[in-house]
Amino acid sequence: MSTTTKGIILAGGSGTRLYPMTAAFSKQLQPVYDKPMIYYPLSTLMMAGIRDVLIISTPYDTPTFERLLGDGSRLGISITYRIQDAPRGIAEAFLIGKDFIGNSNVCLILGDNLFYGKLDFLRTALDGTDGATVFGYRVTDPERYGVVELAPDGSILSIEEKPEHPKSSLAIPGLYVYTPDVCTIAAELTPGKRGELEITDVHAEYWKQNRLRVIEMGRGIAWLDTGTPESLIEAGTFIHAIEKRQGLKIGCLEEVALNRGFITPEEFRATVEALPRSEYRRYCEQLL
Ligand code: G1P
Repeated sequence: MSTTTKGIILAGGSGTRLYPMTAAFSKQLQPVYDKPMIYYPLSTLMMAGIRDVLIISTPYDTPTFERLLGDGSRLGISITYRIQDAPRGIAEAFLIGKDFIGNSNVCLILGDNLFYGKLDFLRTALDGTDGATVFGYRVTDPERYGVVELAPDGSILSIEEKPEHPKSSLAIPGLYVYTPDVCTIAAELTPGKRGELEITDVHAEYWKQNRLRVIEMGRGIAWLDTGTPESLIEAGTFIHAIEKRQGLKIGCLEEVALNRGFITPEEFRATVEALPRSEYRRYCEQLL
């Protein structure tokens, strides 16, 4: 497992499809059952062993994320913040985050992408990325996403952003791993059809250089969408069903920090004692 890979969570965008929920605050702060949405992608990075995280959001929402998560010290991680002052695309994260990335590999996760299941696929990617690693996930509506087409031997045949006629049903989720030169690649991009720096163009460049790897995420992983009111409530219902059945929380940051050894049991206790009396706090208390 890589301890040197850094993490970026992109929590920008205008979330127009969720209006009016997003009229006053960002999509990635909306509740998914019992936690703000960003808890889930942050827990994904932490479970993969990433302890140095940059959160990029809008000028308006960044202070709210800071109020929510602070500098990460109570979770034994470092969280810093940068602003994306207009929705100029996912790939702009590498221009905004250039200094943060430095000479490290970087894992980018979109703040509205939820994953549930064994994260071995991500750990494999963090260990072996010598270019870019993206994942492939079978969906019934690939036209809504980046789509990759693979040959039977696993080699890449095409990669397209939201194709009208998808050549495969393998969507590319918003979770990616790159070598530090992603910043150079991003700097040379020009905006695509929707006027944004497209992440798929970054992948196309790595592919051209023969440095793009695709790992299929097995069917044992749930990749949940939160882009529309309906998919948002479905994601919440999914989290609720699993949590209720198991009596275990998904995306409880304090629990992940403890289990990963980012904080000691004593630090965990102090963190939990500072939480307001709530069902969330009671859950943490019974972990002790
Ligand atoms: C973005 C990416 C797309 C990816 C998707 C995952 O789409 O451009 O390639 O499959 O995230 O959530 P957007 O959310 O900007 O429509």
